[in-house]
Amino acid sequence: MKKYAEITGWGKCLPPAVMTNDDLATFLDTSDEWIVTRTGISERRVSHVGTSKLATVAAQNALAAAGLDAEEIDLIIVGTCTPDEVIPNVASAVQQNIGAPNAAAFDLNAACSSFLYAMHVATQAIQTGAHKKVLLIGAERLTRILDWTKRESAVLFGDGAGAMVLEASDEEVGLLASHISCDADARDVLSLDFGLSFDRFGFDGIMQFDFVGQEIFKRAVKGMNAAVEKVFEQTGLSTEDVDALIPHQANKRLIDYLAKLCKVPSEKTVINIQNYGNTSSATLPIAFCEAVENGTVKPGDTIVSAVFGGGLTCGAGLIRWGQRVTPVNPPTFELEPSELSALDMIVPMHEKTAAAWAKREK
Ligand code: ACO
Repeated sequence: MKKYAEITGWGKCLPPAVMTNDDLATFLDTSDEWIVTRTGISERRVSHVGTSKLATVAAQNALAAAGLDAEEIDLIIVGTCTPDEVIPNVASAVQQNIGAPNAAAFDLNAACSSFLYAMHVATQAIQTGAHKKVLLIGAERLTRILDWTKRESAVLFGDGAGAMVLEASDEEVGLLASHISCDADARDVLSLDFGLSFDRFGFDGIMQFDFVGQEIFKRAVKGMNAAVEKVFEQTGLSTEDVDALIPHQANKRLIDYLAKLCKVPSEKTVINIQNYGNTSSATLPIAFCEAVENGTVKPGDTIVSAVFGGGLTCGAGLIRWGQRVTPVNPPTFELEPSELSALDMIVPMHEKTAAAWAKREK
């Protein structure tokens, strides 16, 4: 009998410090009006803790929603491009923090597409019988890798984490079809030179964040639309069968454009970018979590998701929600409290980077 991977748990973790567009305008040449008009973003979160802690809290809330003990989890996948360390991975920290000794644990980096890539992999792992209960997490602390002197990219991103639990089921639910791809000719349109090729001995205080917004925009819309068509082809479904579009949240204008191409009306399109900006691999699970919590996702709904990210990775998924939309246990897990404001954390990084650029350009 064919197996499916039902989404039985959902959770999120948003750090408490909020940075508004007006906060950004205190140290960058930008304005609330420009940011809202061009991106739809009003505010974003800045984390006082590392990615592993964000991931852990989101995971704990997802496990509570599923009503599972962490010992039952046999695979943990964390989508992230901002791990706390290169080795060991974030997934092993989550495994240790939640107490999941029976799980294998790995990170997956397809930039902002990571969560859908992870769902694609996890669903197939369940369908082959290799794994039965999988914890999927998207977690990012992007505010630590941004160049805070670059207004064109600094205004777009935020921190956060989201998670899902997938469990083997005989019902036709979960990720029914998916298509993932990579437009590698566009590797250079979004890049950060921090990694093993990074010259740590010659480091002058600048991590180079290169970003060609309009090129990303064009390629992202094309790639996501093509991927959505592929999952419709695979399932024989069409836009009329879709109850909600839950896309990666990178820019509201981009989402509106994609929805128009896919012919999904705006009332069926889930958008929360105004509150969190682009949290990369975390946008999808956070948006799913909120859509379930606020009643947008109903039992048995058919949902189409589309993502893109650095690489330039792309993907789409056709998801059928199961019958349960209320958590078995409520999401009570939270981060340790902090007195730090968003500006307390960001302004020193802005000042140091501005001084480093001034020195380099001398
Ligand atoms: N505040 C004020 N002015 C700004 C800002 C800012 N934050 N950023 C750029 N500008 C200025 C530019 O300097 C330019 O000025 P000029 O006309 O005098 O040269 C003007 O605004 C227009 O700039 P554009 O780059 O043409 O603006 P655009 O409308 O393309 O919007 C944006 C830029 C928002 C980045 C858009 O291209 C975009 O959303 N791209 C795709 C999404 C994306 O890249 N997301 C992030 C990463 S991808 C991922 O999720 C993995």
